[in-house]
This record gives sequence, structure tokens and C-alpha cells, in this order.
Amino acid sequence: MTTLVVFASGRGSNFKVIHRKTMDGFIPAKIVGLISDRENAPALEFARQNDIPFAVHHPRDFSSEQEFGDTLLETLERFGPDFIVLAGYLKKIPDNVIRRYPLRILNIHPALLPSFGGKGMYGHYVHRAVFEAGVKVSGVTVHFVTTEYDAGPIVMQQCVDIADCHSPDEIAQKVLRYEHAVYPRAIKSVLENEFEVVGKRVIFKQRVPHDSH
Ligand code: GRF
Repeated sequence: MTTLVVFASGRGSNFKVIHRKTMDGFIPAKIVGLISDRENAPALEFARQNDIPFAVHHPRDFSSEQEFGDTLLETLERFGPDFIVLAGYLKKIPDNVIRRYPLRILNIHPALLPSFGGKGMYGHYVHRAVFEAGVKVSGVTVHFVTTEYDAGPIVMQQCVDIADCHSPDEIAQKVLRYEHAVYPRAIKSVLENEFEVVGKRVIFKQRVPHDSH
């Protein structure tokens, strides 16, 4: 069985959905660990309640990115994942971790990359920038993580009509509902389908049907 480690910093709603989708068999994998940077992350509480092993590492406890990465790599080796799934993880993944898992780390971004991405563009900042730009659509992007921030090959995207949203919070809420549908499908695609990466394009041999749950 394919194994996943999830990284989450906060609320963990994507983590919970992914967990549910592994338990009901939609995602053919098992979550073998959670890594967080916050002791009090609700995601951690969920891991405790569901017997998912977890570890907390904060970059400020290390003198360099490389040292932080070495510790993450040790923990990852202990959990033994085939793939890493970032679900609302707010810290930068060190380059040595990214290099150890090429095309094996997925991230979800709550907008349509390459717009509204890059350093400092996370969480509420993304939705505020989207709102202020006055765009009528936002969306969800699932991509592979490379050492170039928010610029790895795109696995799946979904547009979200935000023409009727009156605030960044409303956009966030609407986009989040789509994230919960798209992330499990994207993970399933990567695990079940053969694909190749040509430049930045991820080319799947087959399309994955919509989740009927
Ligand atoms: C999501 O909007 C995700 O796209 C972004 O951070 C948020 C995390 O939400 N990277 P949750 O912790 O999964 O509820």
C-alpha cells in the first residue's frame, strides 16, 4: 500500500478530508504520519484522535535551513512515505527535503497559479490579493513542489466563480469547499495514473473521474 505523510500547520480541514478519503478507499494509500510546525495545531489533535503518528519541528529551533531539513528527513525516514502531501503547511520545505523526494511532494494552493503565488502568498494574503485584483474567477491548484516557490508542475486545477463574493473571507470559504473535492482527486490521479512531466506540463495517461461521494 502506498504511504503518505501529510504536513499541516493549522486547522487541517484538507488533512481530515484526505484522511477520510484514504479510509473509504477513494485514495489508495495510508497516511503514516503528520508533520507540523505548531504544537497546538488542530491538525495534530486530529492525528492524536486517529492514531496517526506525528512529529513537530519548527525551523526557528535550527540554525540553518539545511539542519531543519536534515531533521525533517530523519523523521520522514522513520515514517517511510512514498509521497508527501502539504495541506496548509506554512513553512518553506527545505531544498534538501525537496531534492530527496523529486515529484513526490504535492501542495495545494488556493488560487490559480501562476497568478497570486510566490513568497508571502499564502492563506488570507492570497484571497485578499485576489479580491483586490477584482478578478471574477479564482480557483485551486495542486502542483508538485520544486525548489522554485509555487512554480512546480501543475497536477490539477479547478476554477471557482467568485463574482458574487463580497470579501476575501467569502472567497476563502468558497475556494476551500473546492479544495476538499480537488485535492483527493489530484492525489488519486498521481497515485493511480502513469504520467510524465514535460517541461512544466504533467501529462496523465488517463483522466480521473469526479468523486461521487
Ligand atoms: C488551504 O486554503 C490551503 O489551500 C492553504 O492553506 C489552507 C489550509 O486549510 N495552503 P486547512 O488547514 O487544510 O483547513
